Amino acid sequence: MKEKILVIGASGQIGVELTLALRGIYGNANVVASDLREENDLLKGTGPYVALDVMNKEMLHVQIIRQNITQIYLLAAILSATGEKNPNLAWHLNMQSLLNVLDISREEKIHKVYWPSSIAVFGPTSPKVNAPQQTIIEPTTVYGISKYAGEFWCNYYFQRFGLDVRSIRYPGLISYKSAPGGGTTDYAIEIFHEAKQNNKYTSFLRENTYLPMMYMPDAIRGTIELMEAPAEQIKVRTSYNLGAMSFSPKEIAESIAKHKPGFTIDYVPDYRQAIADSWPQSIDDSSARNDWGWKPEYDLDRMVGEMIENIE
Ligand SMILES: NC(=O)c1ccc[n+]([C@@H]2O[C@H](COP(=O)([O-])OP(=O)(O)OC[C@H]3O[C@@H](n4cnc5c(N)ncnc54)[C@H](O)[C@@H]3O)[C@@H](O)[C@H]2O)c1
Repeated sequence: MKEKILVIGASGQIGVELTLALRGIYGNANVVASDLREENDLLKGTGPYVALDVMNKEMLHVQIIRQNITQIYLLAAILSATGEKNPNLAWHLNMQSLLNVLDISREEKIHKVYWPSSIAVFGPTSPKVNAPQQTIIEPTTVYGISKYAGEFWCNYYFQRFGLDVRSIRYPGLISYKSAPGGGTTDYAIEIFHEAKQNNKYTSFLRENTYLPMMYMPDAIRGTIELMEAPAEQIKVRTSYNLGAMSFSPKEIAESIAKHKPGFTIDYVPDYRQAIADSWPQSIDDSSARNDWGWKPEYDLDRMVGEMIENIE
């Protein structure tokens, strides 16, 4: 049967690139982009777009029926740094959007649902280095709490109703096509724009703050590989750890300086430092590697080279 995909939150940092990649595979007409915001310029003319508030369950339901949707990618969320400014809103949006999608998906027998979690599920009591798939998980941000609760809702709908929901705990994602949405790892994108404009950057995280990171092409490929893997290979129905690289503001600055002589960085940590300090430095993704063959392609220097080339 022909698949028809709905991407919710398609104008966001991940949504734009994921929508374009899915259109390349399934055909432009078979991937419906939707968002509360206006259509991102990069999506214009590449396929169908509908304005949609995922919180409006009736409208969501109508669109899913009207468009004959068979798969849903739910990307709408409030991210870690923005979430700390408005915890109630973050909890409400992150949870209710997921429950709306899961509920309608069960009713309409949607074939597959994708919903991303985050390394923000880990907290200060989790192992800092190579945080395992299963470990102590006590998140301290509202974003992390909402992601952890969401993981269990995904697992619940799979166990109880057989809904094929799949999920990845993304690390900080680095991209140049669309702007980041208010996360704690956004510094690793801002730094490229500042390097281009001013050849210097003031980091809101301390120089030695190591966090798990990934270049967007790896994240998009990983997401599609997970979604295309045979269902029996998907052993984790909460959310998969996915790793690629781990670096600090100092290390990315050094890598950028290889391309931009004279580039300098200084450090003025703000409230986001506490969020970063609660997360692991790196994560163990052996479950994803073993279950469905995950393998990252980009390390720090390769990612920096491509970012500089595309931002210039
Ligand atoms: N970007 C990262 O580094 C990262 C890391 C870990 C996890 N994630 C997760 O990936 C997903 C996508 O993240 P992103 O970085 O693309 O975020 P983003 O903020 O760039 O994009 C989210 C999109 O959702 C839309 N949206 C918000 N409320 C909506 C609503 N009520 N109805 C419809 N659309 C709505 C926004 O307009 C926005 O375009 C989120 O679940 C996020 O938690 C992202």
